[in-house]
Amino acid sequence: MIFVPTDLVSLLVLLMTMLLAWITTQHYLAPCKNFPPGPWGLPIIVSFMYFGSDIHTDMMKLSKKYGDVYSLKMGSHTAIVVSGVKAIQECLVQKGNDFADRPDTWTIDLFNPRCEGIVRGHFDNKWQHRRQFAHATLRSFGFGKTCMESKICEEILFLLDEFRSNIKTFIATRKDVEKFCKQQIDEHREVFDPNHIGDYIDACLAERTKHNSKVDFTDDQLKFMLVDIFGAGTETVVTTLIWGLLFMVLHPEIQERVYNELDQVVGANRLPRLDDRKHLPYTEATLLEIQRSGSILPFALPHRALRDTTLGGYNIPSGTAVTILLWSIHRDPNTWPDPDKFDPMRFYDEKNNTVKKSENFMPFSAGRRVCMGEQLAKHELFLYFSAMMHQFKFTLPVGTKKPCTEGVLGITLVPKQYDVVIKERHT
Ligand code: HEM
Repeated sequence: MIFVPTDLVSLLVLLMTMLLAWITTQHYLAPCKNFPPGPWGLPIIVSFMYFGSDIHTDMMKLSKKYGDVYSLKMGSHTAIVVSGVKAIQECLVQKGNDFADRPDTWTIDLFNPRCEGIVRGHFDNKWQHRRQFAHATLRSFGFGKTCMESKICEEILFLLDEFRSNIKTFIATRKDVEKFCKQQIDEHREVFDPNHIGDYIDACLAERTKHNSKVDFTDDQLKFMLVDIFGAGTETVVTTLIWGLLFMVLHPEIQERVYNELDQVVGANRLPRLDDRKHLPYTEATLLEIQRSGSILPFALPHRALRDTTLGGYNIPSGTAVTILLWSIHRDPNTWPDPDKFDPMRFYDEKNNTVKKSENFMPFSAGRRVCMGEQLAKHELFLYFSAMMHQFKFTLPVGTKKPCTEGVLGITLVPKQYDVVIKERHT
């Protein structure tokens, strides 16, 4: 006999019970055989059970218990978390094509409903065309090449002047950036001349005309490609430099060694140039240690399995969301003893006065979705950091408490606010 409720309250109770049973079944059924193990948790509230504000460190703790590849229930679906250099290399490099997609997560969809642009794009032919086109075109305008140096140096002079006067803060929201990019595209279109390609937007408009295509390189795609390059390229470099200043004020002896090297190689009368980089191994090692210690992106951007595949010996079905814990590489005590300590000697070979390279260092991720601006970022970081160290001495205000080196996780991992005193070095 089947019980059919007749009043509204009983009907609602029955429906709620069925919904809860359905969610719970979905939650506990592993997506396939030999799926990675993971922590137990009630649907939806799993994140409250295991994660505080430092999600990256909590995820690393879970990897000690469940292994380098483990699963996490996220609402109605199951994601995997990949830690440690071996599993991350397998995921991003050896099986790079299998894991090159991006998931349609709620936040991503909200901003960019059709996943257009580069950062959020699904790994399909159109996306590959967009990324290759963006990379090749930007390179043709000097992106990541040494000829970009003069442009970066103009910006550096502006920054140094800002340090000398009052630093003003300009906060642009994503909407402001989108509006600015759309305005730029409209202005370029009005005066577009296919025989005179002056910049990246002109090149995009020409590409669209070439393919006479209404579906690729649409206005929205152009806008999101620009927003992506802006977004990915500004906050990352600035946040790394903010970590850099923090470590320098906390370690005056390291700061001093950096400017001794700069004084010997560059001298007082000019700013450091890209050419000097190979003669400044201690400065370079300090920058690498800033990137390791700061780990501004403790996770790569979200990845997704494109097809049924395996990882770390487990089966991973197509569509599984993948979190790559870059933090676990940079904080692995087996490769980086006392990993919380800031120490440029990890990257500096004192005997040969050279930079030590390490496989266990991946701030730009790796594989098919590796950071598109890696070269440009390295140039910018070197030129900005060395110019700041060359010109100024950074100290803590007298009598203040030492700032802590724990980060706050937003889009990137940023240091908590700290005060710093800036003094000219060459007066
Ligand atoms: C210190 C500076 C930077 C760091 C640490 C950094 C790091 C990263 C990381 C970890 C990713 C995610 C890769 C993945 O999902 O596996 C990424 C993606 C990306 N980055 Fe950077 N980045 C930096 C600067 C830049 C700059 C200067 C640009 C361009 C002007 C840029 C453009 C991009 C783009 C377009 C992507 C998306 C690539 C894709 O989805 O295929 N980044 N970056």
